[in-house]
Amino acid sequence: MKLFLDSANLKEIEEAVSWGAIDGVTTNPSLVAKEHRDFVPLLREICERVNGPVSMETTTRDAEGMAKEGRLFATVHPHIVVKCPLTKEGLKATRQLSSEGIRVNVTLCFSPSQALLAAKAGASFVSPFVGRLDDVSQDGMALIRDMKTIYANYRFATQILVASVRHPIHVVEAAKIGADIATMPFSVLEALIKHPLTDIGLDRFLRDWEKLPAAIKQFKTVERTLA
Ligand code: G3P
Repeated sequence: MKLFLDSANLKEIEEAVSWGAIDGVTTNPSLVAKEHRDFVPLLREICERVNGPVSMETTTRDAEGMAKEGRLFATVHPHIVVKCPLTKEGLKATRQLSSEGIRVNVTLCFSPSQALLAAKAGASFVSPFVGRLDDVSQDGMALIRDMKTIYANYRFATQILVASVRHPIHVVEAAKIGADIATMPFSVLEALIKHPLTDIGLDRFLRDWEKLPAAIKQFKTVERTLA
């Protein structure tokens, strides 16, 4: 399973890349707006830091406008994937951009019927928002299971990019279902690493090591033993 970072913050992206943890980045207008930067150079800098797809979302409602924006985004860097919303106009733009060889991530997917249509329109990725479904008392993970079945039934190449991930359990459940990708905020990626028993265990190991006399801890001793 691939893990993407849902962020437009360069510091977060660089840190996650240094852990060898991420395979791509997703952004949306809200995340890009938080950075208060000219978005094209920002987008290019993100693409240069990540060896994988970087999603940038269109900001118009009509298909023509989305396709125009999408083509411009695609000139910024080969890693760019254009995000279009799951509306009639978004599907039109998806069909058009895909036919031109531009990869599209259809976003704001909340139902299996929407997911089916996005795949038919030629989407490379579809982003079901599990957290926002959970927020309104609908089972976000049920949508991932349905999408997995539908895409497998008809051998769609469209990848399931689980989005609106709020906690590590979302990631683990998505992995168990076999989703292709989960994208998550930096805080969730950090939470995937952390376990209190790891911290307690490491403290104990290092405390025990500290108790050894300095003379027998030296690397010189290790080297002598190996020689
Ligand atoms: O990028 C889209 C998505 O991941 C948004 O998440 O937490 O705002 O629902 P959230």
